[in-house]
Amino acid sequence: MRELPEMARETIVIDTDPGQDDAVALLLAFASQAELDLRAITTVAGNVPVAQTTANALRVRDLAGCDAVPVHRGAERPLVCALETAEFVCGPDGLAGSGLPAPRSAVAPGHAVDALIALLRAAPDDSVTLCPLGPLTNLAFAFRLAPEVLPKVRRIVLMGGAIGLGNITPAAEFNIHVDPHAAAIVFGCGRPIVMLGLGVTLKAIASHAQVAGLLATGNAASRCVHGMVTRPRPGGLGSDGHPMHDACVVAYLLWPELFAGRDCFLAVETGEGPLRGRTTIDWNGRLKRPANAHVVAEVEAEALFTRLFARLATLP
Ligand code: BDR
Ligand code: CA
Repeated sequence: MRELPEMARETIVIDTDPGQDDAVALLLAFASQAELDLRAITTVAGNVPVAQTTANALRVRDLAGCDAVPVHRGAERPLVCALETAEFVCGPDGLAGSGLPAPRSAVAPGHAVDALIALLRAAPDDSVTLCPLGPLTNLAFAFRLAPEVLPKVRRIVLMGGAIGLGNITPAAEFNIHVDPHAAAIVFGCGRPIVMLGLGVTLKAIASHAQVAGLLATGNAASRCVHGMVTRPRPGGLGSDGHPMHDACVVAYLLWPELFAGRDCFLAVETGEGPLRGRTTIDWNGRLKRPANAHVVAEVEAEALFTRLFARLATLP
C-alpha cells in the first residue's frame, strides 16, 4: 500500500461497544492505516456489558492482527441511568454470526477514561478525532474530569441520535437513550461534532449482491462480516436489512464526499419518560440558535459498500 506522509493521517481514538456494526467499523479502521492513525480503542457498556464489549474489541483486533493498538476497558454503566443492553439485537455475546474465537490478546492496563485523558494531554491542540460508536459515557467522564483536554480534540465524529423516529424507543436512538446525560455533556462540549444518526445510518444497507461478494474474497475478515450481516435479525428495528450504523463513522472520515448533511442546533432530552434520549434537531433553523453539530442525513450507500468491502478484503 502507498505510504502517505505522516501529516496526512488523521489521529483517531475509537470508543466502542461491539456490537456487529462496531466490529465492522473497527475492521475498516484497521484496514485504513494509510489514512487513519488509530491510537487507542476504548470500550464502554452498551450493546452488552463492558466485560463483553472489551472481549469483543480484543476478538476483532486479533482478527485484524493489529495488537499494537491498545484496548482499554471503560465505563461499566451510564452516568445516571441503569444500564440497558441490546442482546436481543446483537446476540448473547454481542457478536452473533461473527464466528470469532475468544480473545487471544490482553487488555491494556488503565481505565479507558484515564487513557483518553492521558492521550489527549500528550497531543497537540486540535489534533485528535474522537470516534464514539456507543453510549457517550467515557467521553463525558473525560470532559468533566479534565476539561483542559478539550482543546486537543479536533472533532468528534459519532454514531448516535435521530432526526426522526428512534430505534430503541419511538423517540430515541439506542446510544443516546442508554446515556442521555453523557450525550448532553458531549453535545454541549463546544468542539466540532459530526453526528451520524439514524437519519443516515438506516440508509447504509448493503445490497444482496454486495453481501454475497464478501465470500468471494476468501479472507477471514470478510467471512466474519458476511456471517454477521446475514444472521437473522429481529423485526421492528426500522429497516429490513442490516444497517452499518457505526461503520458510517469511519467511512465518513475516509470518504466524506459520499455523505451530505447540515449544521444544526440540537438538544438531548435527559428527563425520564417517553422522550428520554431524543435528539431534537433544528433542521430548518427555526430556533435561531448556534449550531452544535453537523448532522449527516444522506449517504451514497452503493459506493460506500463497494469501498468498504474492498478495504476489508485487504485484511487477513
Ligand atoms: C447503535 O446502537 C448499537 O446497537 C449499534 O452498535 C449502534 O452503535 C445504533 O442505534
Ligand atoms: Ca455501537
